[in-house]
Amino acid sequence: MKIAVLPGDGIGPEIIAQAVKVMKALSSDGLKFEMEEAAIGGAGYDTAGDPLPEATMKLATDSDAVLLGAVGGWQYDTLPRPMRPEQGLLRIRKGLNAFANLRPALLYPELANASTLKPEVVAGLDIMIIRELTGDIYFGQPRGISTLPSGEREGINTMRYSESEIRRIAKVACEIAMKRNKKLCSVDKANVLETTDLWRQVVIEVAKDYPQVELSHQYVDNAAMQLVRNPKQFDVIVTGNIFGDILSDEASMLTGSIGMLPSASLDANNKGLYEPSHGSAPDIAGQDIANPLATILSVAMMMRYTFNDETTAQRIEGAVKKVLASGLRTGDIFEPGTQKIACSAMGDAVVAAL
Ligand code: IPM
Ligand code: MG
Repeated sequence: MKIAVLPGDGIGPEIIAQAVKVMKALSSDGLKFEMEEAAIGGAGYDTAGDPLPEATMKLATDSDAVLLGAVGGWQYDTLPRPMRPEQGLLRIRKGLNAFANLRPALLYPELANASTLKPEVVAGLDIMIIRELTGDIYFGQPRGISTLPSGEREGINTMRYSESEIRRIAKVACEIAMKRNKKLCSVDKANVLETTDLWRQVVIEVAKDYPQVELSHQYVDNAAMQLVRNPKQFDVIVTGNIFGDILSDEASMLTGSIGMLPSASLDANNKGLYEPSHGSAPDIAGQDIANPLATILSVAMMMRYTFNDETTAQRIEGAVKKVLASGLRTGDIFEPGTQKIACSAMGDAVVAAL
């Protein structure tokens, strides 16, 4: 298994180091990981003048899977847009054709109190958000800021989806729903936006091939409300890039900490880019206090989706559960009665629990 390891910025290197520890521990048990590191985001800009250096993209293309930390930092916020760290992330997603972004929101029973919602609202929560990742207003042309004849400026972005783009993500969503509780909710804004009117039509067509899947539709504003009102009504949610960006952050908080949530971004052949759902947290970078569990759980997703190794995936997830059950916590999920430990100590604890 050839893995491109891209630590990125902020807490990226610290959390990636813990995931690498886990992969090394698995290696000593016979799994063969070949890991190679490269720079992305601000680190790419600093070392090669590009948030996605050519060598990094080549390594990613030549690998079976990519493990990414996080990108971004205040020192890069004033750079011209193409040089900003986020562009590295968007380009590698697009370059790998990683169109299917899987963002599970799973509540660990031990962390029920970490959510700001009442425990009975979130207990047992297990949602899979499937976000289309390479289209929509993120990539649509035309875009830019131009000056109107009147002299005032105008900002333009374009929401667009082709039928084939919708079809392939809808198919992924139906397949995943079939492996779960067979409930799929497609989120759109078909009452206002033609792009998502087409989205709804195509999702309905695709779902006809999956008669066992119970398909429903919600407008995005309603879905945002339903996610905090009664999140357990959802099993699988499928939606476009921008709605998925927003709803997945919202869903993460149902579980108490965004520091717990992994993600997978898959191409048509299940080659994947794996990253925690959270950002680079520059405010706590370098302090060894970040939560590495989302990154470690991203390795579990890698084993499941790219390498088809459910046993190892569950072994990693089991180790994380064991560590939580033993009362060890990083600062973001700490509560009285538990024991606060460092990022690196959390990595060691997961390795020990494996
Ligand atoms: C995410 C992030 C990214 C996105 C940013 C950093 C470009 O918010 O992965 O959700 O908008 O996709
Ligand atoms: Mg986001």
